[in-house]
Amino acid sequence: MEKHQLLWSFAMLWVFASPFSRVWVVNGESPYRFYDWHITYGTIRPLGVPQEGILINGQFPGPEIYSVTNDNIVINLHNNLREPFLISMNGILQRKDSWKDGMYGTTCPVPPGKNHTITMHFKDQIGSFFYFPSLNFHKAAGGFGAIRIQSRPMIPVPFDPPAGDYSVLIGDWYKTNYTVKIHCLNFILPSLILKKIMDGGNRLLFPDSILINGQGSNSASFDVEPGKTYRLRISNIGLQNTLNFRIQGHKMKLVEVEGTHTQQNTYTSLDIHVGQSYSVLITADQTSKDYFIAVSTRFTSQVLESTAILHYTNSQQKPSGSIPEAPTDETWSLNQARSIRMNLTASGPRPNPQGSYHYGEINVTRTIRLANSAGLINHKQRYAVNKVSFVPADTPLKLADHFKIEGVFELGSIPDKNVQGPIQLKTAVMAADFRDFVEIVFENKEGILQSWHLNGYFFFVVGMDKGTWHDAARKQYNLQDAVARSTVQVMD
Ligand SMILES: *[C@@H]1O[C@H](CO)[C@@H](O)[C@H](O)[C@H]1NC(C)=O
Ligand SMILES: *[C@@H]1O[C@H](CO)[C@@H](O)[C@H](O)[C@H]1NC(C)=O
Ligand SMILES: *[C@@H]1O[C@H](CO)[C@@H](O)[C@H](O)[C@H]1NC(C)=O
Ligand SMILES: *[C@@H]1O[C@H](CO)[C@@H](O)[C@H](O)[C@H]1NC(C)=O
Repeated sequence: MEKHQLLWSFAMLWVFASPFSRVWVVNGESPYRFYDWHITYGTIRPLGVPQEGILINGQFPGPEIYSVTNDNIVINLHNNLREPFLISMNGILQRKDSWKDGMYGTTCPVPPGKNHTITMHFKDQIGSFFYFPSLNFHKAAGGFGAIRIQSRPMIPVPFDPPAGDYSVLIGDWYKTNYTVKIHCLNFILPSLILKKIMDGGNRLLFPDSILINGQGSNSASFDVEPGKTYRLRISNIGLQNTLNFRIQGHKMKLVEVEGTHTQQNTYTSLDIHVGQSYSVLITADQTSKDYFIAVSTRFTSQVLESTAILHYTNSQQKPSGSIPEAPTDETWSLNQARSIRMNLTASGPRPNPQGSYHYGEINVTRTIRLANSAGLINHKQRYAVNKVSFVPADTPLKLADHFKIEGVFELGSIPDKNVQGPIQLKTAVMAADFRDFVEIVFENKEGILQSWHLNGYFFFVVGMDKGTWHDAARKQYNLQDAVARSTVQVMD
């Protein structure tokens, strides 16, 4: 793997509403779906050893949120943990409700023993997403699950209805008990040894394994009937590792990425970065037997691999032969990312074609360059954006804004581009104006692939390359058919 190369990804962000707008639109006509969720600890054994997991209604992973475009979702969330709990909906647009995006700083966590009711409107959205706990590294213990938003019946979908539709949550996993994890840099990290490692300025430890729908290797199984076509909605819900996903003897036709219908390219394997979701179609067109589904870590010197089974319903035969190999180079991954394009003629959540929104013709009103860095402050490993490492405020920012409480945060407390000097601790808030159309350049100098997620928004990924970003790179931007998504990888 090529080291010490700077890679940039470029995104355009349309700020739909000022982050501080307080308009709340309720759509009274769309159906409501009510959920009662009880968050508890429970013993799970995904890797054979008992460990303390975080369960939702007794389930690990949590229940899937099944919905249709424009549904209203109401979740009464009961927190039975010893700590505050907060859940975030990855990729769900929060055009008007950024104060309840499920992130610390904007949304109040549910205190232990209490319940809150979360309401969301899946307005003008389709596709595959997931939810996860956003506080205290709870994600390392569970509390995550899939979200699917189906198209409304009258909206054309650019492929035939599949015979089955499976959510596949993949992610790296530590077998250390959540209870023995200790606090370090706003996070809770597995084991005491880790604290020393992190305080020494190193990365999070290498995980123990990869789970597929909460199960260890060779456990999860997906049934397919010979000759039929199935949709798999694959999300990387892990902590740090890019995962490569592939199926022995079968090709995958990519149809959707985080709510955008894509050009239906065929892939033998897909790199799925932390926080990303992909929908593929697979056809059970091979000899009736069982096949390996393989998931392995990418860009790591040690490679972890887990398998699941693609089971033909009339098969009596366990999977055999060799597990398909993953690609090993970075350029392959970069080229694959560039090949993912929006289908301009297909409909999205509305009947009109996705391509009728000409994002390339909108004038950019602002450029923001975001560069990550790592450093030690007070003997702790910290991470920063443009040299500012975020410190949560005691008062949620939205409340401070609403009630005009002074001194909680300052607008513009993080610069629009990287600066010289040491990392500073701040409650960083960047202001944006209503209807801004923003060019965001992500720059990664850290020697480890980064995955950037813009909570509550989507952006068009118009470029991605090695080297240092420069003005001339704009000439290479894809201003026609880039996918709109909420999470982008930036390689090192
Ligand atoms: C880890 O959690 C399991 C399940 O809750 C429990 O049985 C075990 O004693 C715990 N181990 C440690 C070291 O805390
Ligand atoms: C807490 O749960 C109770 C019982 O389900 C419900 O009546 C109440 O409205 C909930 N409170 C909040 C703040 O959501
Ligand atoms: C794009 O969508 C259209 C309309 O549904 C479909 O006919 C076409 O095959 C798709 N094109 C590609 C390249 O996937
Ligand atoms: C973008 O700016 C140009 C030049 O100022 C202007 O002619 C054009 O109308 C603008 N386009 C849009 C979509 O606002």
